[in-house]
Amino acid sequence: MWRRYPPVLSPVSTRALVHGIGAAIGLRRDSHAAVAAILRHRYGATDALLTDSGTSALILALQKMLPRGGTVAYPAYACIDITAAAVATGVRVRLYDLDPATMSPDLDSVRAALRRGADAIVVAHLYGYPADMAGVRKLAAEQGIPVIEDAAQGAGGTLNGERLGSLGEVAILSFGRGKGTTAGKGGAVLVRTPALAQWTRRAVSDLKPASRGGVTILSLAAQRVLSHPSLYRLPSSIPGLRLGEMVYHAPHTPRAMSGASAGVLRWTLGLEEREVAGRRERARDVLSHMHDVPNVAPVRPISGAEPGFLRLAFLDSDGTRLSHPDLGALRGYPMTLDEHPQLRALLLPGERAGKGSQFLRDRLFTVPTHSRVDQAFFAGLAEWLMAQRTELRGIVALS
Ligand SMILES: Cc1ncc(COP(=O)(O)O)c(C=O)c1O
Repeated sequence: MWRRYPPVLSPVSTRALVHGIGAAIGLRRDSHAAVAAILRHRYGATDALLTDSGTSALILALQKMLPRGGTVAYPAYACIDITAAAVATGVRVRLYDLDPATMSPDLDSVRAALRRGADAIVVAHLYGYPADMAGVRKLAAEQGIPVIEDAAQGAGGTLNGERLGSLGEVAILSFGRGKGTTAGKGGAVLVRTPALAQWTRRAVSDLKPASRGGVTILSLAAQRVLSHPSLYRLPSSIPGLRLGEMVYHAPHTPRAMSGASAGVLRWTLGLEEREVAGRRERARDVLSHMHDVPNVAPVRPISGAEPGFLRLAFLDSDGTRLSHPDLGALRGYPMTLDEHPQLRALLLPGERAGKGSQFLRDRLFTVPTHSRVDQAFFAGLAEWLMAQRTELRGIVALS
């Protein structure tokens, strides 16, 4: 088949692009204040600091919340960008495990990691599935340390009715191209106390000045066209773009969000609610067709969670169904954090990924839920999963 589905996609309206281009060439007013106001309102935050990426936002949060040379507890399975943030700040790293059935922190492992000593803990919601923030906050409070909520992949998910990104005293967001709500590039640090708001007000003037964002706008416009399933095969076959792969980006000094990105974001934030509702509906559609597929189990949201389904996540107990690039079905991150070469020098002695994280590395795959997912996708997914079943039956019959 020629059609190929992009793994992730964030809607960008013509109006958002026009505003982004206008800001890039200096014809439009600055949108930073308007975007920060929307984020403060949406996340119940006292302030929102707009940055050039989620990684930059996490770097700033680590710098603020940890003493110099301090220790942070990280999930042992997550996006490699959190490694880049640790490298940028020079923090020492401990690891805690995840429960593979839910992708939420394993609280026994969190407790043990914090008892080994940490100055702060980072909790990341993966693929829009809420992590147990209340459980981690309780353990962190016992040790008197702050929780940094990494909602870069929060994607509009909620926990007990509260939006991901509004659950930690400090939270970070990403508005990268694949994050559901995009600015092309960008991130934010959200804070929830007056003291931290004083810090963000100072930090904004210390940030390196933003670029204009012309390149970001051009690539966003190209992505809007080329993400169509009838065209996506073209960019995805250019090896240099490394689409859908885990790529380590060396960190840089955090910058402010570009004018172009803020111009885009002002309008894409308005598309989020509809997009999240659509992703949930398509996730439900896929799940309703998944009853009799052996050895494949959907990741189970924790109690009180309504995922934003940035992607729909499954565990494959025999490890044969981890990817189907034409369907945008991809295996999860191929390494646990202790396997990231860049993190090695920062890992405290003896810190290793636990069994849950290793299981996710070996058995997790995710499928798209974005608005370009259609009937042909559902048919292809069913065929892929069933073909495997037939093969498996064949194997069982032979053995
Ligand atoms: C959990 C997590 N944290 C941080 C980031 C960094 O965001 P950005 O790509 O905007 O730098 C990502 C990006 O994928 C992420 O998944």
